Amino acid sequence: MEMNRQDQRLFFDGCDTVELAKKYGTPLYLVSLSSIYEKVKQLKSAFTDRYENTRIAYAAKAFLTKGMVRIIDELDLCLDVVSGGELDCALRAGFPPERIEFNGNNKLPWEIDLAVKSGVGRLIIDGFNELDGIIESAKKHHRTVPVLIRLTPGVSADSHDYIVTGKKDSKFGFPVDSPALYRTIEQAIESEYTDFLGFHFHIGSQLESNEVYLDSLDIVFELLKKLRKERGFVSKELNIGGGFGIRYTEEDDPKPFDYFFTPVMEKIDAFFKEEGMPRPEIVTEPGRSLIGEAGRTLYTVGSIKEIAGLRRYVMIDGGMNDNIRPALYQAKYHVVNASKYDQEPTELSTVSGKICESGDILAKDVLLAPTEPGDILAFYSTGAYGYSMASNYNKIPVPAVVLLYKGKDELMVKRQTLEELHRNDLIPEMISRL
Ligand code: LLP
Repeated sequence: MEMNRQDQRLFFDGCDTVELAKKYGTPLYLVSLSSIYEKVKQLKSAFTDRYENTRIAYAAKAFLTKGMVRIIDELDLCLDVVSGGELDCALRAGFPPERIEFNGNNKLPWEIDLAVKSGVGRLIIDGFNELDGIIESAKKHHRTVPVLIRLTPGVSADSHDYIVTGKKDSKFGFPVDSPALYRTIEQAIESEYTDFLGFHFHIGSQLESNEVYLDSLDIVFELLKKLRKERGFVSKELNIGGGFGIRYTEEDDPKPFDYFFTPVMEKIDAFFKEEGMPRPEIVTEPGRSLIGEAGRTLYTVGSIKEIAGLRRYVMIDGGMNDNIRPALYQAKYHVVNASKYDQEPTELSTVSGKICESGDILAKDVLLAPTEPGDILAFYSTGAYGYSMASNYNKIPVPAVVLLYKGKDELMVKRQTLEELHRNDLIPEMISRL
């Protein structure tokens, strides 16, 4: 973990975090543009700059705002969306539809229709009946829709059970041995309304080993051999998903991108060469690894409760509603006292939120510099799946997001107001008449 304690306060992308807390209030999400640029540069140099016919689609679910859409566009990446809402956000921010890929199990009819009508670049078929809906919509809009089929290769990834998606017993994708898969492939090849490009898989998230990618490739290769032999089908595209792990605390051991891409691309190149087939375009879909470490969250300390001989609770003004990950996945975070950044972290503390749930603990038994009410705490690596999973539980407004770049700060999402919180809340007439 980066630890430069010459400064009395914590700086992030050239900005004084304590000043940011004063200026915008807390809880506050920070996003470092320099960090996003750096991660994308690393990924490109390990993948798209190194191998021809390759593409990166940022997984929007990790963090999506209209400003983020513009950043992704400026960086020349594609965008992977999983709902009509994410798609709508991208379109409103002016993202070129042909660079959007639409994933997601159980896409709703209106979502498919919006995707087809707006001309998204890829629809990734995830369910047994989805293709019927796509064809119906394509007929209506007189379009030919480029499609891929999502496979669940049946390998188990070493990650939290809730974020593992590629095993056979999963709601996502088609198991490679399912009859429905072959029916869907047949239909996708035959239909004049679809351009069937190939396959997609995503094994899981926060992965630290390349083996699961390599094992999944073996399974996909078997399918490709079979399809060529039986159907003469040669795929034009293969999407290997995202999932690359990042550093949350010192316990994590994230690998550089080339640790994944070098063996994966070697294996892919070798297979297609051996089979005498042209290598398809290879696509990756990372979310967390591009935005996770670019985000930090600031909170203000309120009450401190010392239970003698047991625990010291440091209570902050946010909690599980702005970061559900500790409660949902037992996720751990690195946290520092940003106001006393130059002091040694010596006090064993448990940082808890203000939500009415005992499980609302954001960091259990962590060392903090001597902390007092009014201090600003900074949680590291909260950029992925923090803001995007925030809720209004306990009727708490969602915090603001501020974009930072080399000492400059600018609001990216305004703090939700109480007015907005209650905007859609109606008192039915039948109640007011009682
Ligand atoms: N592609 C597909 C089809 C996915 O399902 C996902 C993540 C990604 C790409 C991006 O994966 P990443 O590179 O971000 O690991 N909320 C959980 C993570 C859920 C991930 C779901 N799918 C968390 O906070 O850990």
